[in-house]
Amino acid sequence: MPETDFDFDSVPDRRGTGSIKWDRYPDYTPFWVADMDFASPDCVVEALRKRVDHGIYGYAHAHEGLNETIKDYLGRVHDTRIETADIVHLPGLVPALSLACRAWVKPGEDVMINSPVYYPFFKVSHDAGANLIDVPHIRDTTWRFDWEAMESAVTPQTRLLILCNPQNPLGRVFSQEEIETLADFCERHDLVLVSDEIHCDLILEPDQSHYSALRLPDSLQKRIVTLFAPSKTYNIAGLGYSFAVIRDPKLRSEFHSARGCTLPEINALAMYAAEAAYRDGEPWRQDLIAYLRENRDILATFVREELPALKIHEHAATYLYWIDASALEKENPCRFFAKEGGIFLTDGGPFGSVQHVRFNFGCPRSLMMEGLKGMKKALSADSTS
Ligand SMILES: Cc1ncc(COP(=O)(O)O)c(C=O)c1O
Repeated sequence: MPETDFDFDSVPDRRGTGSIKWDRYPDYTPFWVADMDFASPDCVVEALRKRVDHGIYGYAHAHEGLNETIKDYLGRVHDTRIETADIVHLPGLVPALSLACRAWVKPGEDVMINSPVYYPFFKVSHDAGANLIDVPHIRDTTWRFDWEAMESAVTPQTRLLILCNPQNPLGRVFSQEEIETLADFCERHDLVLVSDEIHCDLILEPDQSHYSALRLPDSLQKRIVTLFAPSKTYNIAGLGYSFAVIRDPKLRSEFHSARGCTLPEINALAMYAAEAAYRDGEPWRQDLIAYLRENRDILATFVREELPALKIHEHAATYLYWIDASALEKENPCRFFAKEGGIFLTDGGPFGSVQHVRFNFGCPRSLMMEGLKGMKKALSADSTS
């Protein structure tokens, strides 16, 4: 086990803290919604404490330190240079997906996605009265885009494509070549490419790296919106903050115009937490990645050796594992594991495949083992019934 300065092993008591993950279905041990059972790094807690101690929480705007920190972070971690003017601060990432649909898609026009995918991708087009075209990912040696099917499915009314990279729930990190092919597809069909990169700082495979849509050539940036947030990596989703980078001024102004009165001001605390996370959280993030990688490997070995009825593929990013339970022949595997194993997983149905469950392994190892044993218990009960 790698040496770690941070304590990822202690199991926190989150019940009764207003946590969706722990308090919504209190009868089960939760391994579902994408937040982690780890305290945020001390730098984040300290920044929040300092801001809280000020005692006044009026309307907030992004302070200079946040803009500078974001520019430094994108340069340092994602090898890309941006201007302050390119940044659009937002109170969350899903609202940005909805905003993008309302900015560029009229009622009756089309939005393309590739399932299985984070479930709001199926819903944000409704906010614009648009139709959804889903071209599922296919699997050969890996999960990949079905380029031929995308060419057949795209219509003259398709305006926008929403990408999830790294992919939730598949755990894939798309290569530079795949992102370039996708951008070329968007260019040829005149689509805006909205790239949700919320999981980009959670790459667990040492030999893979994130290729941000921001790194695509300048000539393509007139159609690209790239979305980031510190919330998954630093476990601050409840603070509500994300940011878009839109290099093209016209695209940025259209995005702003669609906002109307639909979004709240950004939480004053969230922007200080984001600044601290990106500026000072790197050592914590490196240790987190090492811990998650080991959790992921233990999970994969356990499933392969102890739960052979379930199928998993390789996994390179995120703390979420997509598990194929179709061989169980259950109407709803998620409900089955809850009833028979006492554990609550994410139901694959809203992601596009009810025969899958998603396991959140962003938790202390002992807790993860409890979840895996819960799955084993459910399967043993099933085979003896
Ligand atoms: C791909 C993806 N996008 C967006 C979000 C949520 O972002 P936010 O809470 O900022 O709306 C998640 C949360 O799991 C996610 O996995």
